[in-house]
Amino acid sequence: MKTNDKLEPTVFVIFGGAGDLTWRKLVPALFDLSQDRSLPAQFAIIAVDLAKSSDNALRRRLHDGVNQFSRFGKANTAAWNQFAKHIHYQPGDFKKLQTYKALGAQCAKLEEEWGTKAHRIFYMATPPSMFGEIPKYLGKAGLARDREWARIVIEKPIGYDLESARALNAVLAASFDESQIYRIDHYLGKETVQNILAFRFANPLFEPLWNRRYIDYVTITVAETVGVEHRGGYYDHAGALRDMVQNHLMQLLCLVAMEPMVSFDADEIRNKKVDVLHAARPIHRDAVPQSAVRGQYGSGNLNRKKMPGYREEDGVARDSQTETFAALKLFIDNWRWQDVPFYLRTGKRLPQKTSEISIQFRAVPHQSFPAEASLGWQPSRLILSIQPEEGIVLGFQAKYPGPKMQLRSVDMRFYYRESFDAPSPDAYETLLWDVMKSDATLFMRADQVEAAWQLLMPVLEVWQETAPSDFPNYAAGTWGPENTQGLLAPGYRWPLPTELVTAGKKKGKNS
Ligand code: BG6
Repeated sequence: MKTNDKLEPTVFVIFGGAGDLTWRKLVPALFDLSQDRSLPAQFAIIAVDLAKSSDNALRRRLHDGVNQFSRFGKANTAAWNQFAKHIHYQPGDFKKLQTYKALGAQCAKLEEEWGTKAHRIFYMATPPSMFGEIPKYLGKAGLARDREWARIVIEKPIGYDLESARALNAVLAASFDESQIYRIDHYLGKETVQNILAFRFANPLFEPLWNRRYIDYVTITVAETVGVEHRGGYYDHAGALRDMVQNHLMQLLCLVAMEPMVSFDADEIRNKKVDVLHAARPIHRDAVPQSAVRGQYGSGNLNRKKMPGYREEDGVARDSQTETFAALKLFIDNWRWQDVPFYLRTGKRLPQKTSEISIQFRAVPHQSFPAEASLGWQPSRLILSIQPEEGIVLGFQAKYPGPKMQLRSVDMRFYYRESFDAPSPDAYETLLWDVMKSDATLFMRADQVEAAWQLLMPVLEVWQETAPSDFPNYAAGTWGPENTQGLLAPGYRWPLPTELVTAGKKKGKNS
């Protein structure tokens, strides 16, 4: 295995080591890190799971996952064999202290072999019902004690609502110090999401305009074409607000709206982000109908294929009232953003996969061009495109060629793949690398998770109490329920998220 001598010895323990996340994301990301020389020489993966299995059986299965999901394509046999030697399987019941004692003994044995102390990373890749259990046992077995060398990683859902999130955070805090807890939101590992900070704070150009004086409104869209895939059982108890808005969209909102950080210290950045959520204007229960829209897809055509409705998907109740689309209007009550609306929307089975943030600038204070010159005039707009086309587009006005003064909208575009040679790593690679280096910048802190739940609780409660009478209310392959437009102030529009993507594809084809 190609290794990095600057990294300290690490044991990477995966609870749920035989599960889907390990197979599809974690081990491919670790393998890719090994290909980039980003793992220490003294490195081990201990996969813990209930099933009876063996090192070899697990390695074969994980090899298959790597072949399918590695960024480098099918794994080179020699490279895989080198890497696979570091994988061990340990059967065990997550609710038995004995499992943790055996784990402790195995970590100690590895440390003895290596002749040095190692970092121990405990990754909970289990169903959420185990999130409250594993930390307790780790605590009891004495495996959480060492603040510098032991870390725990947890994935969303961090709770089901504010109360359960607080309870889960309390369980984590009973065994681990907050500095040892890494709560993953994989959106924070995306290059383009991290680039929001670079764009805003490494350039003096936009920050002076980044406020209520120049910005009219902001939209954040995370649209997916997929339905619930094989996750109907989980999703039908979650819905779009819990699955996407509480975490991914809130992270995007925080990055767009936060104040400049003073340093690149993890807590400094996280403080600035949590300030945004604290400044968000609470949504009163009786204002929920004006502030939030929910939807559920029925059958429809997507990319010329007939798609079933949500209620026909596997694992979904035939009379399900779970929302597969959610849109929200928010305000941030502070000097920078007072009265600037932030509109958020996300949904499944929408016409196109796209995640983007659109910053709509205000009109010029005085229109000095003759009326006929500015018939097609539009205020400037900046689009930060997270995926699938990674880039930034600035739309502004230019003079159309010819003897007359006529204004037209044009775009200035930046594409990652054109400007940089380097491929973007998968979000998990970035995040696992950060956990190994003890860098918590891209992870959610307890107070941020709770502040996000707090903001959404009135919407969750009102939606739960009042059954939607019109579900399904959008057809698969459309942009969500019609009343989503009604959230916007008159004259505002959801941007057409096709522009950046189509333009990018055309360019790609020609080049
Ligand atoms: C997950 C959600 O967190 O994010 C899924 O649980 C969703 O429902 C996924 O499909 C979207 O992630 P990405 O990276 O494909 O935008």
